Amino acid sequence: MASKPHSMILGTGAAIPGRVLTNHDLEKMVDTSDAWIRERTGIEERRLIEEGRFTSDLCTDAARMALSDAGLQAVDLDMIIVATISGDVGFPATACYVQKNIGAINAAAFDVSAACSGFLYGLSIADAFIGSAACRHVLVIGGETLSRMTDYSDRNTCVLFGDGAGAVVMTPSNGRAGLLGTMIGSDGRYADLLYMPGFGTKNPPSLESVKAGYQFIKMEGREVFKQAVTAMGEAATRILHQAGLSSDQVDLLIPHQANLRIIEATAKKLSIPMERVFINLAKYGNTSAASIPIALDEARRMGRLNQGQVAVMVAFGGGLTWASAAVRF
Ligand code: UT7
Repeated sequence: MASKPHSMILGTGAAIPGRVLTNHDLEKMVDTSDAWIRERTGIEERRLIEEGRFTSDLCTDAARMALSDAGLQAVDLDMIIVATISGDVGFPATACYVQKNIGAINAAAFDVSAACSGFLYGLSIADAFIGSAACRHVLVIGGETLSRMTDYSDRNTCVLFGDGAGAVVMTPSNGRAGLLGTMIGSDGRYADLLYMPGFGTKNPPSLESVKAGYQFIKMEGREVFKQAVTAMGEAATRILHQAGLSSDQVDLLIPHQANLRIIEATAKKLSIPMERVFINLAKYGNTSAASIPIALDEARRMGRLNQGQVAVMVAFGGGLTWASAAVRF
């Protein structure tokens, strides 16, 4: 059986931008079809951030909602972790802008770069800091504006991604409720299967790098798909084992929302029926680090996660990285 939980989720929030990009809009931009996108991915539309707004703005909106849900003030926070691969600037961390926006003057703030697994990496870090009593209240946010890194002439990637942010406030466990376990993993041998080559120090901005399209996400979709099915299945199986849970004890599986076929394969591996799997991919596409906290917030607000119920979250992304967590509400 799992040991006593260190930390629990006290509040959740999400921010979804208003601009909608449908499959039919994409049909006018690249050689694709609504039927292909639905069949191969399960996506129908995605949301894009408005001009003049940035990742930190979405993160700030999600953070305010999570704080209000938790009944806490920004000054109560000891730490802010933002999981993102689309931060506002090269540095400082997007978490620092969120700190400024909400006035969390007592918090340490930093970003985590683990692509789509980033939110669960953040959750795992928060759990460790709360477990060691170094922190009491930690804000963990997954926020992305992938539309700003997407090549809208590349049909292999532009149909997949969307923008958004989700946040949770973590606090010491009250006993029964809380994180029953987390696991994180990565395999850098596959780093170049899904990456953005430009704007680091290897390929700094230049006319050449822009002409080469280094500012856009590159992905070997088919290979990533294969790795994702294996890694998601294994990460989810391991967390059940670690937390001492059987499949029937999982009230809701919240997988990273990248592709319906990957989600179905993960649920099958765990023998969890699709009625107990949370899916909002059709509306938002793949929002990378934001996908799980957005789904978690929606699930709670829809009444699909009530007191005493157990959720298992599992993610996979560039790096390659993977992560999972089990939580009792
Ligand atoms: O967030 C975590 C990381 N990301 C992922 O988990 C994504 C993982 N990968 C995938 O979800 C899938 O591989 C994709 C959805 C990206 C692609 O689906 P697929 O079934 O693996 O297709 P494919 O790449 O094998 O391509 C099949 C065909 C190709 O045409 P040919 O070579 O067979 O003639 C592609 O050129 O489909 C073509 N194709 C498209 N056709 C219409 C690729 N993209 C499109 C498109 N519209 N948007």
